Amino acid sequence: MSILKITGGCSLNGSLRVQGAKNSALPLLAASVLTGGLSVFRNCPRLTDVAATVRILRHIGCRVYEEGDVLYVDASGPIAPEVPDELMRQMRSSVIFLGALLSRCGEASLSLPGGCELGPRPVDLHLMALRALGAEVTEEGGRLCCRAARLTGGRIDLPTPSVGATENAMLAAVLAEGSTVITGAAREPELLDLQDYLRACGALVTGAGSGVIRVCGVRKLHGGEKRILPDRIAAATWLAACAAAGGRVRLYEACPEHMVPVLQALRRMGCTVNTGENLIVLERKGELRSPGPIITRPHPGFPTDAQPPLMAASLKAAGTTVMIETIFESRYRHVPALRSMGADIRTAGKTAVIRGVKTLRAGDLLASDLRGGAALAVAALSAEGESLIRGLEHVERGYEDMAAALTALGAAAERLEE
Ligand code: EPZ
Repeated sequence: MSILKITGGCSLNGSLRVQGAKNSALPLLAASVLTGGLSVFRNCPRLTDVAATVRILRHIGCRVYEEGDVLYVDASGPIAPEVPDELMRQMRSSVIFLGALLSRCGEASLSLPGGCELGPRPVDLHLMALRALGAEVTEEGGRLCCRAARLTGGRIDLPTPSVGATENAMLAAVLAEGSTVITGAAREPELLDLQDYLRACGALVTGAGSGVIRVCGVRKLHGGEKRILPDRIAAATWLAACAAAGGRVRLYEACPEHMVPVLQALRRMGCTVNTGENLIVLERKGELRSPGPIITRPHPGFPTDAQPPLMAASLKAAGTTVMIETIFESRYRHVPALRSMGADIRTAGKTAVIRGVKTLRAGDLLASDLRGGAALAVAALSAEGESLIRGLEHVERGYEDMAAALTALGAAAERLEE
């Protein structure tokens, strides 16, 4: 088991390039299956979730080559429509292969993605979208089986702006016969990245980011090239770390325009946040104050993935912070570990109430999920003493070498093997 050792209590001072976005890389890689050619993805983050996706691509018949942060995916050969359970189990978001395989092969078979640490993870909206385009969807022994000789365009009205369901709908629509309109679509920036890539491959897609996406089906797609956008959640994590520990950090290759609610919360906490072209500079010198109420919402609201790191940054903030998590059922699994450090947090359902404390104790902590693990790292930076964060494999799903990143920002952090 890998462990992250952090010696807290000192302020940060450093610069860091923001990694490519995990939540853009994963759907882009799945989308490459739709093309009959070679796609090139630049600024691809080195993450275990990306590695898991590459294993699926290779298993179904794609040839994948890596050269630094560039990933080449050749989907010109025959593609098998099945993803085995052991590969599906490694990553919940593999459900994105449903739309890609159905479009490419006329069928798709994969196991229901298990509920994960964030509570039940239904896929009913994904299936509703595929059925709206004429897919026949059955569930056989925990596996989803979808068939459609050729999908036909239609109307998909999403009652919840599900990111994954929107992505699956787009991938199913681009090769369907006729036009599709997706209303109630998710508006996250990663969907714009997906639309840009699909258009580079010859798809006729407009409206990503607006809530209404329109697709005109084409017969075939060719390979395309895409530079993956910066990871706004990783950036939010590094900024939360500096808010918590104090000091000054400079993030380049960042996208401040994708992070408005997070930057506003950090400014309310007393941080100075300046932004420029692909640049964010945060400084926290004086007292840290509560950001006030934080309610997570679909984009452009406050992102659920930034809630755990911002909670960690609020633990020693003067005042009381109320957080309401409206996206996932149980996204407070990091709270017990934070309490063990001396944090004053009460939770009831979707609400968490954090009262600022003067000090936090370092601890021997266990990460339970990706962003919860990031929260433990942020808290450890502002705790007196040496903390150990076990279960680092959760964190490495979404953060490139967190020890190196924190060290670049001036923290005392080290990755250990148990
Ligand atoms: C994506 O997950 C992200 N993952 C998540 O990031 C992110 O938290 C989430 O979007 C919300 O922004 C990737 O992009 C790989 P949803 P996704 O479908 O698509 C409900 C991280 O830490 N829902 O937008 O799975 C669902 O239960 C991860 O990087 C249905 O009810 O999220 C949830 O309450 C965690 N039926 C809400 O919608 C469905 O069919 C939002 O889920 C699908 C979803």
